[in-house]
Amino acid sequence: MSVEKTLSIIKPDAVRKNVIGQILSKFEGNDLKVVAMKMKQLSQAEAEAFYAEHKERGFFGDLVRFMISGPVIVLVLAGNNAILKNRELMGATDPKKATPGTIRADFADSIDENAVHGSDSEAAATREIAFFFDAAEIAH
Ligand code: CMP
Repeated sequence: MSVEKTLSIIKPDAVRKNVIGQILSKFEGNDLKVVAMKMKQLSQAEAEAFYAEHKERGFFGDLVRFMISGPVIVLVLAGNNAILKNRELMGATDPKKATPGTIRADFADSIDENAVHGSDSEAAATREIAFFFDAAEIAH
């Protein structure tokens, strides 16, 4: 097993529902450590740049509007196999398909408002962590 870092976003719907702590508990209860974290209101340009790989998809406009609809928490999680472990804890993108007990099954209402984002590969994790954090902001 390798120690990895991954980027997580607690999205505006979950912040509005006041479940930041419950989501952090799922990470911490599964041996993922928070090594950087901040609350942030994304600008439209930031949301578009972060999700640039989806810009041709039909849902892109709605995704950007949702992601700037309120503050988010951006955080870096570290641990053994953190990238895959975080994705398992999140559950399927569509909460209707998410395994019971996962974050999206517990807290998300729809594929558009799905509570959390997590990096899906090592390359994505590296890019996404650097998008939000300077190296000096990450504990080690
Ligand atoms: P996220 O992991 O943040 O990455 C892109 C987001 O687009 C995704 O979660 C969903 O919230 C949203 N989205 C909306 N519709 C779709 C779809 N059909 N397929 C994938 N992602 C979608």
